[in-house]
Amino acid sequence: SGVEQLGNMIAEAACIVPFTGAGISTECGIPDFRSPGGLWTRNRPIAFDEFVASADARAEAWRRRFAMEATFAAAKPGRGHRALASLYKAGKTPAIITQNIDNLHQASGFRVDDVIELHGNTTYARCIGCGHAYDLPWVKARFDEDGNAPDCTICDEPVKTATISFGQAMPEDAMRRATELAQQCDLFLAIGSSLVVWPAAGFPLMAKNCGAKLVIINNEPTEQDDLADLVIRHDIGETLGPFVGN
Ligand code: OAD
Ligand code: ZN
Repeated sequence: SGVEQLGNMIAEAACIVPFTGAGISTECGIPDFRSPGGLWTRNRPIAFDEFVASADARAEAWRRRFAMEATFAAAKPGRGHRALASLYKAGKTPAIITQNIDNLHQASGFRVDDVIELHGNTTYARCIGCGHAYDLPWVKARFDEDGNAPDCTICDEPVKTATISFGQAMPEDAMRRATELAQQCDLFLAIGSSLVVWPAAGFPLMAKNCGAKLVIINNEPTEQDDLADLVIRHDIGETLGPFVGN
């Protein structure tokens, strides 16, 4: 079966790099983007230039974020997160590349420095001008005063979740480190991503081009199934559950 083949590939690999998307967190209660009921089936994304240009867009972005707060706050790592943390603890996985913003890889036991966040993190905020970090309760308190998104107390520019929006520059350090990992690994695991958003979706391709084996685990077809050495079109928690260590 696919799981048995995956077990053999994991056993034979010296350097395994996982690359995750929103599908790994759905069993934790966090919706993905493109499945039925996904976030982009309910709301149009707010692009970075809209956020910068419009106070209404900023207020809407923060309304959406606060509406999700109970979901993010309650979420615990799932079987997929825990299986990957087991590979990390076993020394097989130096670091993980993720498109996710939910902090669940860190919560599962990865050191903060070993989680390469391509699309940032939604559990805190940053000024888009000077980069100063703010915690969400600080933003919420100001938002609740008058319904307006707050500006930075240092430079007066807007404060945004520390995520990457469409049209916003990718984080350079994360892109550089993800490139190195994709080039160095001998097994690349693309898990729970539709692989449609670039440049993130370039990493499975890059790993494959550099000689790694590519495994795709996703319950629906992805853009890159044709490239993969193994496609497991099945539930992530069920597929990776057997790899959760003690
Ligand atoms: P998507 O919503 O595009 O894809 C998630 C994939 O996971 C879908 O193909 C689902 O079918 C699959 N899936 C969901 N639950 C699953 C489960 N339990 N088992 C197996 N498969 C499951 O999410 P991403 O690919 O992560 O970026 O989206 C990429 C980027 O698009 C996000 O990082 C975000 C979004 O716009 C930005 O906003 C910049
Ligand atoms: Zn600032």
